[in-house]
Amino acid sequence: MPHDQRPIGVFDSGVGGLTVLRALQAALPDEPTVYLGDTARVPYGTRSAATVVRYALNNARTLVKRADIKLLVVACNTVSAVALDALRQDLPIPVVGVIEPGARAALAAVGRVDAGIGVLGTAGTVRSGAYPRALAQRGHTGVATAVAAPLFVPLAEEGWTDGDVPRLVAARYLQALPADVEAVVLGCTHYPLLAPVIALALAESHPRARVVDGAAATAVDVTRVLDEQGLRAPSDTHPTHRLFVTDSPEQMARLSRAFLGREVSAAQIELIDVEMTA
Ligand code: DGL
Repeated sequence: MPHDQRPIGVFDSGVGGLTVLRALQAALPDEPTVYLGDTARVPYGTRSAATVVRYALNNARTLVKRADIKLLVVACNTVSAVALDALRQDLPIPVVGVIEPGARAALAAVGRVDAGIGVLGTAGTVRSGAYPRALAQRGHTGVATAVAAPLFVPLAEEGWTDGDVPRLVAARYLQALPADVEAVVLGCTHYPLLAPVIALALAESHPRARVVDGAAATAVDVTRVLDEQGLRAPSDTHPTHRLFVTDSPEQMARLSRAFLGREVSAAQIELIDVEMTA
């Protein structure tokens, strides 16, 4: 088997993608990783598709140039919704997004193609129609309802993930979903941090529905692509994990336990500028 010691690159608009990084590191413990949170420009979810494509190209080119990544994981639904084609055309490496795995996880959770499925995402993700499209491509014939839940992003970035405020916000967003949805996809990588309060609110408003997160399914896709293309790292090395941000390493450090499952100090997080060439 050929091996490739280069890292897997992962990026998001901010700290949300750390929830995907965590699933990747759990599934692929031998793989080195490098994560970029574009914290100077978060949120992406309220911006136009053209701006999101430009930011995505900036981030991806930065990871290729600075870290020589072998595969890119777009750990952001907003970017996955509008920029996957542009990234695939631009980069010489495989690109894996989070929407297709999220749709697959939702269908697996409901176990029926005609079940009602709800999606919570950013305004950009909802506007793109990417989830209903991905679900339909996988054979879903039921109603797919996507609802924009933009307030979850600053709540997650602030680490304000439990108590009355996020629960009331969740209850309000869930009102927009049809009564018969059987699954609610967390269609933004910031939202898994709020999964417990979303589940509490959902138990009140839609007791038959469950919360779905596509992070583990994304790790399955990454594993498959690494295997298909002979890109796995050798198993006898200690992988390094680098973290980049474009603003405030302290903020990511403060949230690292919640998002990544382990404490990282600000000194271990590199403050960088992205390539502005796109
Ligand atoms: N975490 C991102 C997503 O998955 C977007 C959050 C934002 O920047 O608005 O969509």
